[in-house]
Amino acid sequence: MVKVRFDTPEDRAAIAAVHEGAFGSTQGPEIVGLVAGLLADASARPLYSMAAEMDGRVVGHVLFTAVQIQPEGQGIAAQILAPLAVLPGLQGKGIGSALINEGMRQLAAAGVDLVFVLGYPDYYSRFGFRPARALGFDAPYAIPAGHDDAWMVMELKPGVIGRVRGTVQCADTLNDPRHWRE
Ligand SMILES: CC(C)(COP(=O)(O)OP(=O)(O)OC[C@H]1O[C@@H](n2cnc3c(N)ncnc32)[C@H](O)[C@@H]1OP(=O)(O)O)[C@@H](O)C(=O)NCCC(=O)NCCS
Repeated sequence: MVKVRFDTPEDRAAIAAVHEGAFGSTQGPEIVGLVAGLLADASARPLYSMAAEMDGRVVGHVLFTAVQIQPEGQGIAAQILAPLAVLPGLQGKGIGSALINEGMRQLAAAGVDLVFVLGYPDYYSRFGFRPARALGFDAPYAIPAGHDDAWMVMELKPGVIGRVRGTVQCADTLNDPRHWRE
């Protein structure tokens, strides 16, 4: 049984190990650095960092951090999901889905209106994410050619999409072009 909960400082080493394992030796260290940077970044707040636990062990992690929509003043609370990872040996067992579903539940309860993600369209569309550009939301950096559908949005409050539009501005740590290359 997987249990999803907010993480604690004691989970940080296990969370780093999850990202290292899931993203591999090339991309892993960059993602571990991204997580550490975001957790310490005042511009990322409020943030929601959640761990999936199985048999007392951290096996997955998802992080949501605050974003602004430019022009500001549209009265919107928005977050971005990045990163998400599950230990390689335990993928395909619903742990990623449990992290996303519980994360969305917590975000909705906290009054978040919109959640953005840059990721696999076939995976995130299962949860209700839709291509964001066509709905009026530009990413902070141009999405690589042919991958437009990877930039996605999901509304947690019905009626927000269509009423609000603009360019998404992330926390300082995520606002680096190297995180938007793929
Ligand atoms: C992507 C990831 C988080 C999914 O976690 P998970 O626990 O394996 O996912 P779930 O068990 O909830 O869902 C599994 C389903 O998603 C599908 N899926 C997994 N990765 C996918 C991908 N890249 N594109 C499309 N579908 C994908 C599986 O085929 C499976 O489909 P099924 O239910 O029809 O069998 C995990 O595979 C992972 O850590 N990958 C490496 C890191 C990564 O790429 N993170 C995401 C960056 S956007």
